[in-house]
Amino acid sequence: MNTLTLPAWAHPHTDLTGRTALVVGGAGGVGEGVVRALLDAGARVVAAGRSSTRLDELASRLRSPRLHTTVLDALAEDLDQAVSALAAEHGGFDAVVVSVASWGDQGRKPLLALTDAEWDALVAANQTSVFRLYRALVPHLGVDGVLVQLNGLSADLPFPWAGGVALTAAATKSLTRTLAAELAGRGPRIYEVILGVVRTRARQFAGVDDPRGIEGAEVGIHLAELVAGSSPLTGAALHYFVDKAAGPSGSAPERP
Ligand SMILES: NC(=O)c1ccc[n+]([C@@H]2O[C@H](COP(=O)([O-])OP(=O)(O)OC[C@H]3O[C@@H](n4cnc5c(N)ncnc54)[C@H](OP(=O)(O)O)[C@@H]3O)[C@@H](O)[C@H]2O)c1
Repeated sequence: MNTLTLPAWAHPHTDLTGRTALVVGGAGGVGEGVVRALLDAGARVVAAGRSSTRLDELASRLRSPRLHTTVLDALAEDLDQAVSALAAEHGGFDAVVVSVASWGDQGRKPLLALTDAEWDALVAANQTSVFRLYRALVPHLGVDGVLVQLNGLSADLPFPWAGGVALTAAATKSLTRTLAAELAGRGPRIYEVILGVVRTRARQFAGVDDPRGIEGAEVGIHLAELVAGSSPLTGAALHYFVDKAAGPSGSAPERP
């Protein structure tokens, strides 16, 4: 267990043996690192997304008998039934990670140039999807369960030429914090984790990899500690993970 190189801030022996985590978006850039770290901590992991090809590629890269994959579309009409069947198959979930994102087809565009169709598509892909996942999945988490949404700094900052993405980031931050407040002390623990730049496969392919960025697996190490309850941030609903060396923090980074 814990064969990943652990950052200095991490606990050496996070053990999730016997726990089951669902990672929606598990074949995505950040999701893959999260899946790796949860597997490394001993969890069974179910990686979900719309593309069976991407999920198969993930499985062949990670090659773990504790990794399961499933096709799941957050916007599908039958999402609730699909989630119920999945929860029955896996005996419920101890943790759910929502790592879902879409940049849409509009490219970089000034806010007021967005068409109605582009606006609707961005809201559906990044906001309605998250709400529908929460509504379907929270009933399948026990009171000791954990739900995490991964989000970006555009939840807090203006994001010129990507206004549709930024507004949905801000909206889902609100959604997650509201859910955390509603369930505080009596339901699964709900976390909003806002990330800085993460080094992903897509960034490498695009030639914009930045070695100062956070590794997806480092995000996953933080989430594993939240699930285990060993993170010093276990009691805080809002986290920022922007500074690779410092690790996750309960406060927003200082900005010039
Ligand atoms: N990459 C970064 O540097 C970075 C930085 C800060 C924050 N983040 C946050 O990290 C999260 C993930 O970002 P990412 O970079 O990993 O994006 P990504 O590589 O595009 O991955 C997104 C994942 O979401 C899945 N997905 C999209 N729509 C879905 C739907 N309707 N139903 C089910 N699955 C769906 C995609 O799989 P399918 O297409 O197969 O469905 C994909 O696996 C986002 O919340 C983002 O804000 C990322």
